[in-house]
Order: sequence, then C-alpha cells, then structure tokens
Amino acid sequence: MTNKDLTDLSWDDFDEARDPRPDTNDFDAVVERAISRRGFLGGALAFGSGAAVFGSSMLTPLAARAEAHGGFAFEPIGIATDFDVHVPAGYQWKPLVRWGDALWSEADGAYSPETGVPVEMSDKVFGENTDGMELFDVDGAEVITVNSEYVNPKINLPAQSEGIPRSEAEATMLKNMQGVTVMEVAMGDGGYEIVVDSPLNRRITHETQMTMDGPAAGSDLVKTNADPEGMSPKGTMNNCGSGRTLWGTYLTCEENFNGYFGATGDYEETDGLVRYGIGGEGRYAYETFDARFDISEEPNEPNRHGWVTEIDPADPASTPVKHTALGRFKHENAAMVQAADGRVVVYMGDDERGEFIYKYVSNGVYVEGGSTAGLLSDGQLYVAKFNDDQTGEWLALTPEATGMSLEETLVFARIAGSKVGATTMDRPEWIAAHPLKAEAYCALTNNKNRGVKPNAGGDETPVGGPNPRETNNFGQIVRWAPDGEDHGAGTFTWDLYVMAGNPTVYENDYAGSENVTEGNMFNSPDGMIFDTKGMLWIQTDGNYSNEGEFEGMGNNQMLVGNTETGEIARFLTAPYGSEVTGMCWNLDKTVAFVGIQHPGGSFPDGEGKPRSSVIQVWREDGQAIG
Ligand code: FEO
Ligand code: CA
Ligand code: CA
Repeated sequence: MTNKDLTDLSWDDFDEARDPRPDTNDFDAVVERAISRRGFLGGALAFGSGAAVFGSSMLTPLAARAEAHGGFAFEPIGIATDFDVHVPAGYQWKPLVRWGDALWSEADGAYSPETGVPVEMSDKVFGENTDGMELFDVDGAEVITVNSEYVNPKINLPAQSEGIPRSEAEATMLKNMQGVTVMEVAMGDGGYEIVVDSPLNRRITHETQMTMDGPAAGSDLVKTNADPEGMSPKGTMNNCGSGRTLWGTYLTCEENFNGYFGATGDYEETDGLVRYGIGGEGRYAYETFDARFDISEEPNEPNRHGWVTEIDPADPASTPVKHTALGRFKHENAAMVQAADGRVVVYMGDDERGEFIYKYVSNGVYVEGGSTAGLLSDGQLYVAKFNDDQTGEWLALTPEATGMSLEETLVFARIAGSKVGATTMDRPEWIAAHPLKAEAYCALTNNKNRGVKPNAGGDETPVGGPNPRETNNFGQIVRWAPDGEDHGAGTFTWDLYVMAGNPTVYENDYAGSENVTEGNMFNSPDGMIFDTKGMLWIQTDGNYSNEGEFEGMGNNQMLVGNTETGEIARFLTAPYGSEVTGMCWNLDKTVAFVGIQHPGGSFPDGEGKPRSSVIQVWREDGQAIG
C-alpha cells in the first residue's frame, strides 16, 4: 500500500491497513460473551440520581416531568444530508474562522479558492482540520486555543502533487498547517471576528520548540541525535481533543502521532513500535524529506510524541511542555478535575480499538493562586478496569505492578496497561467531567473489532461490561461515579448513559438504549463537552452514508444530553463529509464556538475548496446558550 492509498483512509483504518491482525473468534468466547451480555442487560442500571438508559420506568418523577416537557431550550431538529450547517429555530450561525484565514495582516489575501495558501504564509493563517478548543480570559481579552489535528493533502497541496508532498517545501507546508492556533477574538459589527495582529496570536506547529518534564524526560528512551539530552523535542502533532488546567493553561492532546513516522532504511521492529503502530511508510512521506521522521535514522523520535502538552495562552513566548507523567498513547483529550483533598486528577482516553482509559493523580495539591510546579510532572498514572457488575477500579502503573522501569511504564503506557489487566475499550474518545457532581463520561465511539480481534498488544476484546456489543458500529457513552464522590478514589461504579443504535433497523441491542429514538438517533459519539449547567454536548464522527444500518441518521451532528433524565436532543447538523469537533463559549456564554472538520462540497464559502471552520452559534434573543 502506498502513501497515496493511505492518505485517503481514516486514522483507524490507516492503522488497520499497516498492521492487520488475525481474526480470533472461537466458540467458547462467543458463548461467554452471550452470557455476559444477558447478565449486563438484565442488571439494574439505576445510577447516581437516576438516569436509566434501559427503562424509562426507572426515571424519578421529577425526571419524568422534564422528559414530558422536552427539557431543552430549543426545538430539536431533524437530520440533514446536505453540505450546510443547520441549527434550531431561534438560533443563528456563521463562520468565525476558516482554514487559510489570516492571523496576521501580512497573510491577508494569502488564501486562494483555487490554490489554497502559499508555503511562506502557511504558518501565518488558521490551521487545517480544527479540533479541540478552549477559550481563555487573558486580562479581559477573549483568547481561543484550538487544535489543527491533521491535513487534507489533496485539498491543501497543489493539484499536481496528488496529495503527497513532492518537495521539502510542500512537506513544510503540511507541517505548518497542523498543531495549535492561539487567537484573540472579539465581537465586531456582525459577530465575533479574529483580532488580526493581536500580540496574543500564535501558531504552534510540527517545528515549534518544546520541552518535556516528568519521569521520562531526559531518559534514554527520548534521546535523539538532534537532542542528546532528551529534553527538547520539536513539534506537537495530530492534536485532537483538548483540556484546560485549573490554573488557566491549555492542554493539547497528541493522538495519531504514529502515522507521521516512516522508514527509509532498516530498523528494529520493537514491541514498542508494534504496539503503537509505527513502521513502514508515513502518511505524509515526511521521512523522505526530514530524518527526524525516519525511524531508521531516529528510532526514538516517536517516543517524543503522544503526550499531553501544556501551552500558556497568555504568553506567546512561552515554551510548550510535554508532560510525560501523564503517559504516552493516542491521547484524545484531557479532563482535569480535583480530588477531595485538592490533588489534581486528569482523565484521559486512548483512541484505538481495544485500548484503555487512564487517570493521572498528582502528588501535590492545587491551591488557587498557589504554585503549580510539579502538579503535572509528579504523580501516579492509573489505568481503568471495568467489572461486569458495574464496579471498577483504577490500577496503578508502577514498576512493581508492571515489571517495567518507570520511564518505560510512561513511554509505553499501553504495554504497562496490558500487563496489569486493564479493560480493552471501544475506542475511548473525549472524556467530560460533570461540573456539578462527581461523575465523568467517556465517548466510546465504535469498535468494529469488538469480540472479533485482539488489540495491537494481543489483548482479547471480549464482549461485556461497558463494551456490550460485538462488532460495535454505533458506539456508546460510559460514565462512572468515583466512590465517596471523590475523583481521587481508587474505585468507582459505572453505567452506560447511552448506547447509540438504530431503532428503525434493529429490534435487538443494536437498536440502542431506551433514550435513542427515531427522532434523535446518531452513531459514533466523539467530542463531549459539559456546559456550566451540566448539560452534555455530544458531537459525532461517524458513518454519514445515511444508508443500511445508518439510514435515518444523516450527516454528523451535535446533540445535547440531559444526564439526569437520559434525554438526548439534536441541536446541530453538520455538512456532508464533516465531523463535529470541539466546542467552547465566549465569556458571557451568549455565543458558542463549534468546530466543523473536513467538510465536503465547498463549505462554507459556497465555491472553491471546502474549508474546515470554527463557526459561531447564537440565540436570536441574545440569551446564553447552554
Ligand atoms: Fe482525533 Fe479520536 O479523534
Ligand atoms: Ca475525536
Ligand atoms: Ca472519531
């Protein structure tokens, strides 16, 4: 398979193509799965304050009333199959910023609908494939930090390249369009606009100088020819979901970093490379222009990626920090909360079929206004084990438990998680922590290999627990409540908030849970963000064919979930071809910013190339959203 074939694949299919795994599906395992599925669905699922996805009879009277009145501040909308965005009556939307829009006036007019952006302007414009984002109050200025996850080379490069860079300059262009954008925004005459030339504006790319902290920083595993100290990695890549610290900095999460590395010569196929899907040809052929991306030249360079990286949005001169204490894997996002005793807790998912959910707990405590030194570099990483009886525990990834050194445990966190018996999950995407009570939610987007194939480490993926359906093409959202209402606790109880499905096609588990109806059905939950009132905004990245088992679901969409009643209502539909990625609000909550990644058609301009965009959504009556 060549680069040309690979660039058209989704990131998970890209991994599958490079590392095909044998099917395993023996009879004993099938029987065991069937039994565990019966047990699961037959069990009582009341949880917390009472949402019960498998039976509305379990709703509390208060919750039942909310259900009868809709419980939402909008009239839910129907599906769409067109190339536009749709929002409920009484709401409006327009683009805030599109790939190629200038952040500095020197790049004004740099974007052309026919040819895109010239290489010399490619790090002075808004990046490609917008994803996770947060908005910060920087001395009264509204500053959005937003990820550019990857690129669409057939759109971004000149047509003659056919989607693969032909020169170092073209590779540089692709590197510049990814990473993170920091941009000041302000309300203008017609809505929010970028503050062009704001001193707070910044682009962070695959070439930006970074540093590392935590136990694996400076270890032999992260040393390279260019950085013999192992402390000064360059670049952040495949920045997917986001997080924010309690002290007002941005967390960008490095996801499918593996696909950026390739080999031009021989290399040792180590367990670490195999488990992380690294080898062969890189997705964008970087290795042919830059030895940093060539694992036959720099076998440790991939170990310097796949981290949670902290960026200070208030200081454009600050050096981003990769936090090795939080473990290395395909980070989706990072949800920071506080334990009862003040320690910092970060929940994180590893988005690959059959990988794990993690939790980091600091040793020190966070005090508002106090020092934050060490809070993301000195702590303990745990991995989740979900039991079929709806309990679970956090397993500490220590050298004693894993038989690995501390550095190895963090750099190869997946291998460590396998050694302690973590639960293989249906592709953990965003984790969102409830703002008003001790609960966390994780979108398990889908997993066609559930019950069919092991993960990349050979761990079996049995059907059961929070992953109750074989060949799971629809996804579900699991939530857990830590024991003692303390995110620092080592144990928790869990249930499923929703199992997505299609009740018009199936009458079995694949119809979805009770709170999925013909009027709100969707597949592949991905982005999840709580608003301050405790409503869960759910964004999808799934199959938008509107055919077969997906018929009636239409394009990707954003829904709002009431986590008390279980109700879910569709708020927004995205253009055909796109996924919905990331959400944040302006300071007074009257405008919501929403990411539209890899749209089709000519969205949003109506002509020329499609452009990934952050849009703004507001209520016509000027009231707050969410
Ligand atoms: Fe970048 Fe798992 O989504
Ligand atoms: Ca995602
Ligand atoms: Ca996804």
